[in-house]
Amino acid sequence: MCGIVAYTGKLNAQDVILNGLSKLEYRGYDSAGISVISNGEIKSLKRQGKIKILEEALEKNPLKSHIGIGHVRWATHGVPNETNAHPQISMNGKFSLVHNGIIENYLELKNMLEAEGYVFKSQTDTEVIPMLIEKFYEGDLLKAVEKTIGLIRGAYAFAVLSSDEENRLIAVKHSSPLVGGVFEDGIILASDVTSVISHSKKIIYFEEDDIIDVNNGDYTIYNKGKIIDRPFKETKMSLEEASKENYPHFLLKEIHEQGKVLQEGLSIRIKNNKIDLGEGAFSSSDLKKFKKIYAVACGTAYHACLAIKYAMEKLLRLPVTCEVASEFKYEDYFVDENSLVLVVSQSGETADTISAIRKAKDLGATTLSITNVLGSTISRITDRVMYCYCGPEISVASTKAYTSQIIAGYLLAIDMALKLDKISDDEVQKYIEEIKKIPAKIDEILKDEEDYKKIADEIKLAKSIFYTGRGLDFVTAKEGALKLKEISYIHAEAFQAGELKHGPLALIEKDTPVISIATQNHTMEKTASNNEELMARGAKVYALGFKENNLLKASSLEFIGIPKTIDLFAPILAVVPLQVIAYYTSALLGNDVDKPRNLAKSVTVE
Ligand code: AGP
Ligand code: GLU
Repeated sequence: MCGIVAYTGKLNAQDVILNGLSKLEYRGYDSAGISVISNGEIKSLKRQGKIKILEEALEKNPLKSHIGIGHVRWATHGVPNETNAHPQISMNGKFSLVHNGIIENYLELKNMLEAEGYVFKSQTDTEVIPMLIEKFYEGDLLKAVEKTIGLIRGAYAFAVLSSDEENRLIAVKHSSPLVGGVFEDGIILASDVTSVISHSKKIIYFEEDDIIDVNNGDYTIYNKGKIIDRPFKETKMSLEEASKENYPHFLLKEIHEQGKVLQEGLSIRIKNNKIDLGEGAFSSSDLKKFKKIYAVACGTAYHACLAIKYAMEKLLRLPVTCEVASEFKYEDYFVDENSLVLVVSQSGETADTISAIRKAKDLGATTLSITNVLGSTISRITDRVMYCYCGPEISVASTKAYTSQIIAGYLLAIDMALKLDKISDDEVQKYIEEIKKIPAKIDEILKDEEDYKKIADEIKLAKSIFYTGRGLDFVTAKEGALKLKEISYIHAEAFQAGELKHGPLALIEKDTPVISIATQNHTMEKTASNNEELMARGAKVYALGFKENNLLKASSLEFIGIPKTIDLFAPILAVVPLQVIAYYTSALLGNDVDKPRNLAKSVTVE
């Protein structure tokens, strides 16, 4: 988790680093810190809490320098406090380091160093790194770093300064993200492109085990002992995209952007009414090899997988196993060289998903990712990649990534089905026509925002809220419940509507809110009956379905009508009111909507 920034150049390092860290706050925000080299000494300032607190402290005690490193933390080892905040400093005070990730063998290394007389101050796993660098340092920071990474195990991207080498900073990338920008006023390294783009649109995406040695205004990249050249890639991401514009929160902005970004994504993937998956496309002979398909991800991306599974099974007539990544890695799912493992991840950095990919690859499977972040770890380690093209998603709660993941997965399913002769050209045209209408329908749904806000106001004090649905509607119910719980902190749970009477109905009390999703025609009447059963027991049923559905209107307290589409595409539309309801519930409760407690955007630890 967390974000790191390192800078050296003509500008005041503190300003560049703080600006860079502010763009990374979504990655971690329990503490922040900065180190610079000034008059041959390491000077640091760290604060528990958000970057703003660090900023205020730096206003009172500025750190002036041409070189520095900074960090926003999402603690894994040791509580969030000032001592555990990064930078972590070596015992002699000469080495300062910021780290993103986990050092798995830190205890063993710490015991070894303590036996040699090193005294640790923090509870972090990170502190062993500057200590090892101090131990190995003989006048050349690069050599000391190389020896250190020979000993540490785990996931890390780190940047380190040495007060003995005032014009040098070294960074390493191993299983955690790191990018760089080189511009007239200096060199910046960071966990994410958002910190670099205000200086440079040309980005270097560092590869696994790159060591970046920035020395006297120049840089050298080493990999396995050799000097390597990494290309610059132009990013189209604008600062405006990375900011809130006029919305009070990123989440509301991202919900509202869905129509536009889905439209843009579709225009990349559908050309002349034909699906063009670019690098993600399989040939029909590739596809014939696949006897088993798996869809693997975490959280919201897992819910996208559930929808994609429905589409694939319907169109390909092949069973698809859908599993959360943290389970997939440890259980036996009969994956082999005839398997296709599809992984979905907004960030492209989720550790559980990365582990699942590694397992799939070890077992010989072909891997394909649907991800949003260009150059992310997942995009690079999978055999093929399809991007979501939905722009940076900053709010911890995923919204536009979810709808764009489903669309990408559906287009994949349609493309595969056509190539395997499971559906005709005419059928493909029917799907394409309908999918093109989705963005405008999302905009139409968002015109009813005030109605959803009213529902949020009605449910905001509830103890528990239930979501029900059958089939694809159950997928939407699961995503609606996750959205609500993660940002409102209200207990929310999804049940298959038909399962209610097998247990969960016992939880229903007078006025318990239940959001019942019913877009699927073949189960509509059954779900309407379940709504009646719920109301008979005192539940306040909010039914969500296609507009003008008199059955649902009659079997609910309030009806949320959305524009009609074919049943398969319903999850893309039906989730939108639920996103808005979750947003307003959280906002009305006064929660930190974009940065909910205990969560972080990019979960880079298992
Ligand atoms: C989404 O609202 C959640 N914050 C979370 O479940 C997220 O979807 C999950 O951690 C997976 O992240 P990824 O898509 O970046 O891999
Ligand atoms: N493992 C380190 C810590 O707990 C770094 C966590 C992070 O990536 O923020 O301090």
